[in-house]
Amino acid sequence: MINSIKVLVILGATLALGTTQSFDDTEIHGYHFHTYFFQTDDANINEAKSFREAIQAQINAGPMKNCRLNRFNEGPVGPHPIGSYETCCNKTSISEAMSWFMLNHGNLTILLHPLTRWEMVDHTDRVMFFGDSHKIKLSALNEDLEDHLDLCLPLLEEDTGDGGSISISPVPFLYSLVILFSVKIISLL
Ligand SMILES: *[C@@H]1O[C@H](CO)[C@@H](O)[C@H](O)[C@H]1NC(C)=O
Ligand SMILES: *[C@@H]1O[C@H](CO)[C@@H](O)[C@H](O)[C@H]1NC(C)=O
Repeated sequence: MINSIKVLVILGATLALGTTQSFDDTEIHGYHFHTYFFQTDDANINEAKSFREAIQAQINAGPMKNCRLNRFNEGPVGPHPIGSYETCCNKTSISEAMSWFMLNHGNLTILLHPLTRWEMVDHTDRVMFFGDSHKIKLSALNEDLEDHLDLCLPLLEEDTGDGGSISISPVPFLYSLVILFSVKIISLL
């Protein structure tokens, strides 16, 4: 009796699952595609810049509409050992983005990882490379982000990475020089 109930329950559950067949892992709230380039190789930099324009065109045209491009880093930043820039995609654009990056990355390496609260695992066990793989700097990563999750939110004004260099605003820069100088002078007195 108990056994036949068990069988019925399992059968029912299997049928119910079979009709939806969806996998929606709420732990993953987005993905990062990191495009890597060698910052001392002009041909590679140029390829990275045109690839970036092609990504933006895909975003604008709609196939990757729930992705956004982040700033252009002309050298190592965080765990990334060479020049890179990030395309953040929500789940709603992941399949289009993945196919597109796979087919079009050319000579550039793409590091793809999910965004969960487990930053270290996302960049180690769960990582995928298109093209040559690279060793990343694990010391720059947290094990657990807790609720400081990295989301694919709209860009902030200062983040509109236009492929140029990072600019330093002159006024705060001058202020810091003046302060540094005063501290130096005071310490000499
Ligand atoms: C990703 O999803 C979040 C939450 O729905 C939304 O606020 C954000 O604008 C989306 N990002 C992109 C690039 O579509
Ligand atoms: C990849 O590198 C080769 C050799 O340097 C070059 O001929 C080719 O144009 C590059 N591909 C792209 C998409 O730039």
